Amino acid sequence: MLSVSAINKSFGGVHALAGAALECSRGEVVGLIGPNGAGKSTLVNVISGFLVPDAGQVRLEGVLLQGRSPQQISASGIARTFQNLRIFRDLTVRQNIEVAALRAGQLHPGRAPVMRLDDLLEMFGLADRADEPAGDLPYGTRRWMEMARAMATGPRILLLDEPAAGLNDEETERLHQVITLLRDKSGIGVVVIDHDLTFINNVCNRLFVMDQGRLIASGTPADVWRDPTVIEVYVGPGNRADTKSAVEQGG
Ligand SMILES: Nc1ncnc2c1ncn2[C@@H]1O[C@H](COP(=O)(O)OP(=O)(O)OP(=O)(O)O)[C@@H](O)[C@H]1O
Ligand SMILES: [Mg+2]
Repeated sequence: MLSVSAINKSFGGVHALAGAALECSRGEVVGLIGPNGAGKSTLVNVISGFLVPDAGQVRLEGVLLQGRSPQQISASGIARTFQNLRIFRDLTVRQNIEVAALRAGQLHPGRAPVMRLDDLLEMFGLADRADEPAGDLPYGTRRWMEMARAMATGPRILLLDEPAAGLNDEETERLHQVITLLRDKSGIGVVVIDHDLTFINNVCNRLFVMDQGRLIASGTPADVWRDPTVIEVYVGPGNRADTKSAVEQGG
């Protein structure tokens, strides 16, 4: 299980995280939601070792991960995607995925990869474009490649930062199916950040809601959308979040 508690992180005077927390077990899809600037990406950066927190704990199966580099954390079993895609444009799709697997030690002799490269290409709909340079791919296809790369590291926990951003309805439906398949077939835990709350409510077993760097609510989607604190953030006078529809759909 991934267990994150009491995380603080400031950038100069900005308290991006002030008591952030999250949990995700294997076989579970957890949603991390909240308005723009709530601290969601910052929390993912802390969990994956790209940022060092000022305080708090990140544990995977009870083991403290603080102080480890992003590469060491990836090798411990936490993989992520980025809100702004990071790909090797001149490498082919297949090479991009191979590099990720190599860096996480997945292709070392004696360590069986969790998923074979060809299975990953198939699962993410990339088989036909495996030998094209990644820089030539349309945006949606790059998103699939980024997820395939994260899965190639053999994670126990997969962190997806806005995977549905820029996807059309059909692609979002396919994303839902793929995440469910990953959870059920490989038994990993998935943490999904997204502003598409219909997608979030449909795909997640449990939600964690952040506002201004803090965890303000957690529970099943039905419970969370009945919570007055959450409703305040989404439809209250300040209305800091960017959609109202989720509250109407969620309850
Ligand atoms: N490297 C940084 N330097 C300074 N401030 C930062 C940095 N990264 C994030 N912040 C600030 O921290 C706060 C949280 O940002 P973060 O990107 O984590 O929010 P978010 O919940 O992911 O928002 P969004 O939904 O828009 O992606 C914001 O006020 C942001 O401006
Ligand atoms: Mg973000």
